[in-house]
Amino acid sequence: QRPILRLLSCPGTVAEDLRRDEQPSGSVETGFEDKIPRKRFSEMQNERREQAQRTVLIRCPEKISEKKFLKYLSQHGPINNHFFYESFGLYAVVEFCRKESVGSLQNGTRTPSMAMETAIPFRSRFLSLKLKNQTSEQSCIQSSDQLPPSNRKLFEILCYAESIDDQLNTLLKEFQLTEENTKLRYLTCSLIEDIAAAYFPDCVVRPFGSSVNTFGKLGCDLDMFLDLDETRNLSTHKTSGNFLTEFQVKNVPSERIATQKILSVIGECLDHFGPGCVGVQKILNARCPLVRFSHQASGFQCDLTTNNRIALTSSELLYIYGTLDSRVRALVFGIRCWARAHSLTSSIPGAWITNFSLTMMVIFFLQRRSPPILPTLDSLKTLADAEDKCIIEGNNCTFVRDLNRIKPSGNTETLELLLKEFFEYFGNFAFNKNSINIRQGREQNKPDSSPLYIQNPFETSLNISKNVSQSQLQKFVDLAQESAWVLQQKDTDRLSVSNNQPWGLAAILLPTVPNRRSFTKKKRKRSANESVRNLLESLKSNRTANFTETNEK
Ligand code: GTP
Ligand code: MG
Repeated sequence: QRPILRLLSCPGTVAEDLRRDEQPSGSVETGFEDKIPRKRFSEMQNERREQAQRTVLIRCPEKISEKKFLKYLSQHGPINNHFFYESFGLYAVVEFCRKESVGSLQNGTRTPSMAMETAIPFRSRFLSLKLKNQTSEQSCIQSSDQLPPSNRKLFEILCYAESIDDQLNTLLKEFQLTEENTKLRYLTCSLIEDIAAAYFPDCVVRPFGSSVNTFGKLGCDLDMFLDLDETRNLSTHKTSGNFLTEFQVKNVPSERIATQKILSVIGECLDHFGPGCVGVQKILNARCPLVRFSHQASGFQCDLTTNNRIALTSSELLYIYGTLDSRVRALVFGIRCWARAHSLTSSIPGAWITNFSLTMMVIFFLQRRSPPILPTLDSLKTLADAEDKCIIEGNNCTFVRDLNRIKPSGNTETLELLLKEFFEYFGNFAFNKNSINIRQGREQNKPDSSPLYIQNPFETSLNISKNVSQSQLQKFVDLAQESAWVLQQKDTDRLSVSNNQPWGLAAILLPTVPNRRSFTKKKRKRSANESVRNLLESLKSNRTANFTETNEK
């Protein structure tokens, strides 16, 4: 069970202004907000990391005066911003204007002495604030709940929305990561970096995945990447003379073993010395070795990996796609929520579709619109300049990093149409013979017999949905067809239902749909037709395959 994370907002903070600016505008015609120059992923990551290094996490007493609290901390230097949240207790995130203030605060902080246990001294930026004498302080902190809405509340909000477009934008607004939540994610990475730095002083712990790719939902896990490139590439600068120096190091037989060894010690370190790190599991035999743990104070379930630069690059690519057009995120959130509601996705790994695969499917679908809403990865590659050139482990990961150089789409389709068409498109997709490929933005013949084949955009010989079973894919197809049908019915129209009846997006999130029987009948008929068609197609493609094979021999 994850602790409940409630953020207590400070009215009028920079954070709120930022959040207001981030609201998706329902009235945007193409969804392409071209007014503000948009930050590169690396710029955004560096800024946030630097902010996090000036920030401390403080466990506070139950009742506290915000004014006195800030006055006390200001002794160490001016505070840039702060917020409170609840997660089995009251916590504050305080960002100083200068990094030195953190050192000053730490210098005035002591290691607790305990009666029964012994504290392991560790000078971290996760502190506890105690009251010297037990005078009861007045709590003046305004509480504002930042949890995503409950299912019940979500249905209510969706039913009162004006249109399906409005429903999707509302869903996005309610579920997306808030400014404070994002800050807490970067701070958590920064605190873990302090621990890992005990072994690797030049390491960087970077968040990746949905925490940073613009598709994160409140409550999603925190994927972290232990970046040791600084250590690896240290002293590449030229020195004069005919000599060069190298570190004496231990050697291991493979990159994988090196990764396992590094994660193993970091895992031990987190377990023994990491304040607030609990339930540390070392999952070193996985395809991508990782250390999983809970960071109690932030409430985040964390996955720490290393040697995973391609995943960071995938996050950057998704960041670009998510930022290019506001319809992308709204549609992805809607589809992810739909998939979760029907148990097509799960927090447990298994034979089901992942959020990552679903996002790729939405991107692919948006590349297939006419005119396309999103550019293909190959076209992003042609826009790249010398600075964007990037080869990771022999894979070409080059694409344009500057968002402002990508031409906006002229497509003005509504979210409502896109949602319907998404279900229609994938409800009838020839999964038996075609693969999804966002690099080229068109279907290709499947290179193997995996039920669902989504080409890994960077390691192009891999399938990111290799785990998906035929029955899970069938469930997805059935539900997509069913939802397309529900959205086509007149009674899902906002105007034809009374206020508290699920319609539009709300109707397709329900496990059972109205008039399901008549749909099932129609579907059965269609399925029969489709089965015949699929059989003919597979015979045809087998014949073509055999024909090519014979010719090539
Ligand atoms: P959530 O479900 O919200 O956590 O989405 P997520 O995008 O963070 O997914 P997840 O935590 O499962 O994985 C984190 C990141 O790892 C993803 O964003 C991808 O960049 C990468 N990733 C996940 N699964 C795969 C996969 O099967 N293949 C590859 N190449 N990368 C993956
Ligand atoms: Mg994740």
